[in-house]
Amino acid sequence: MDIDVLLKQMTLDEKIDQLMQLAAFLFDGASHEGEITGPLSDLGISNRTIHNSGSVLGGSGASEIKNIQASHLKTNRLKIPLLIMADIIHGYKTIFPHNLALSCSFDPGLVEETAKIAAKEAAVSGIHVTFAPMVDLVRDPRWGRVMESTGEDPYLNSELAKAFVRGFQGENIQTSKYSIAACVKHFAAYGAIEAGRDYNTVNMSERELREVYLPGYKAALDENAQMVMTAFNTVDGKPCSANKDLMRYLLRDEWGFDGVIISDWGSIRELIPHGVAEDEKNAAALAIEAGVDIEMMTSTYVSYLKELIEEGIIEESRVDESVRRILNLKKTLRLFENPYRFLDENKAKDIIFSEEHRLVARRAAEESIVLLENDGVLPIQKDDDVGLIGPFAESQDLLGPWSWIGDRDDVETIAMGMNKVLSKPFHTQSIQSVHTIKEEEMLGSIEVAKKVDKVILALGESSDMSGEGGSRSKIELPEVQLELLKKIHEVNKDIVVVLINGRPLDVTRVIPFAKAVVEAWFPGSCGGSAIGRILVGDKNPSAKLTMSFPDSVGQIPIYYNHHNTGRPYDHNNPHNRYVSKFIDGPNKPRYPFGYGLSYTTYAYDNLNLSQPVLTDNETINVSISVKNTGKRLGDEIVQLYLRDHVGEVVRPLKELKSFEKVRLAPGETKIVTFTISEEMLRYTHSDLRYSSDYGEFSVFVGTSSANTLEASFKYQMESEEN
Ligand code: GLC
Repeated sequence: MDIDVLLKQMTLDEKIDQLMQLAAFLFDGASHEGEITGPLSDLGISNRTIHNSGSVLGGSGASEIKNIQASHLKTNRLKIPLLIMADIIHGYKTIFPHNLALSCSFDPGLVEETAKIAAKEAAVSGIHVTFAPMVDLVRDPRWGRVMESTGEDPYLNSELAKAFVRGFQGENIQTSKYSIAACVKHFAAYGAIEAGRDYNTVNMSERELREVYLPGYKAALDENAQMVMTAFNTVDGKPCSANKDLMRYLLRDEWGFDGVIISDWGSIRELIPHGVAEDEKNAAALAIEAGVDIEMMTSTYVSYLKELIEEGIIEESRVDESVRRILNLKKTLRLFENPYRFLDENKAKDIIFSEEHRLVARRAAEESIVLLENDGVLPIQKDDDVGLIGPFAESQDLLGPWSWIGDRDDVETIAMGMNKVLSKPFHTQSIQSVHTIKEEEMLGSIEVAKKVDKVILALGESSDMSGEGGSRSKIELPEVQLELLKKIHEVNKDIVVVLINGRPLDVTRVIPFAKAVVEAWFPGSCGGSAIGRILVGDKNPSAKLTMSFPDSVGQIPIYYNHHNTGRPYDHNNPHNRYVSKFIDGPNKPRYPFGYGLSYTTYAYDNLNLSQPVLTDNETINVSISVKNTGKRLGDEIVQLYLRDHVGEVVRPLKELKSFEKVRLAPGETKIVTFTISEEMLRYTHSDLRYSSDYGEFSVFVGTSSANTLEASFKYQMESEEN
């Protein structure tokens, strides 16, 4: 297909309509009706626009999408196929643990595997593009969407962003079977919204933006992600969908991205409430000038771009460049040859939610579950007398808020999981709501707790307490659940709390009443059996936190890679008032980045550097011995951090630079090695130069960001050494 020839054949109306993305049910051939934000007439969308629009949002199932595309091609004059896009964030129908959970596996290979399965199920269902990976770095668990992120570290964020893109797109998006194009989001720094309140303001220097928040997007684009989605928020007072600094000068000019940019739902029309656009016409002008190619679910482009061109306010070439990018993406996906790409109703029946996919989903959940506390009550013996209580005992609300096609009816509950692993029946008392506990439910729970040896208390957040629009000003469990915990504790002290939630919680009022706390997140379709296998020790937990758990909401933002300040708190001198601390609580989080327990224990020893000096053309080899000092086989995520003691700007006390998961049998020792290179020392200077400085550095290797062995080296010019 010659895009230039096709472009010349298109009328201005047809070109502008290509920039429109509408929800599937608006299209002929769609299977169900539905409401969008306001009736159709509010969007000013004509049938012509629907027949000429360039892409569709959603569309559930191969047959519906086949009908939509077929109907579209019948009415579209130039037979330009639709791009079919959807939110396949952590699974299509086989739902994996959400990204924050999955990131705790520290396993890019597993992340890639889950994305590949998600892509395969979506591709046979007719999806061409996924609005993923979400790579917004996060430091505030009040935000509901931290569940979609991969946590607080730029390096891990980047490694997992690449893994998601590889999984979705395969080796080559043009030729890889069952691949779908990745759309990295939300550009940019949506995770830095003030107070964790969704859609709120983002304020930071360009240096901080580049140093901390942009690496994940850049990594996804370096892995050839085909699209970028704008964020709802402002950066430096400019809403992203009209932010030329971000979209044109950085993303397009500096990074050389010539793919498609799509607005996040309604964010072009939202330029009006933001206060940078007087009306929809002005909003359309600002967004097209910023380089936003597709308008999702609002109609400023189709309503005003033609007028703006006729009035000479916008050059037609701006529209042409956007249409060209969209047509190029259709060409890359070979839609002109086959508008249905990998859609296959028959294959879909065998591929979607297959046993093979569910086994990966169970393994992914097992690798994501973090053991936060355990005084030895875990693992449970399979013949223990066990009671399973709480709002998540038999709940199928384990998929989390972004499981669009995933079906709760398919979910394996914790009760089902326990049934599989325990050798005798267990007592249970389920509670229907996370927010209220009926008297008979409370009394029943207490009765169960009285007659068993150990209680598994499945507590947490419902999925609508997390995700988009799910910001919370308090991050504890609902009050009634804390009340239940205390009541159970009055009659049985052997309590294992299993948490089902999408964000780091303040568990201060849980810890005193629990002998073990297991962070299971929203574990996905097969979460129940994963939880069961972890609780009885068929799987030894190995996951580590990728986002700090605050001791209280008042500490937020709290993250491990923070600066020292000019008056650092000295734990050895706790009464010094005039230092950076709280007078009513600790500085340290409840659980730090990289933290997670196991049913075995590990000893770290003999941290060695191959040499004390790093020069420009050399590397330093780091080695450390890790021993399994317990009685169970285990997987340990060994982490390497660096500290640059003196920078041109202040530098974090620790920065994750590498990690390795090692399997150790009881008593086994392995030497784990890392390589330190000059590239690891680079950072964004005040003039935005990304480079390294000579000087003193510390190396930390250990089991969490707060538990490491330390060594040091000097980075210097060759000549100094001689
Ligand atoms: C939502 C989300 C975005 C999603 C889009 C389409 O508002 O912000 O992540 O991809 O709309 O559903």
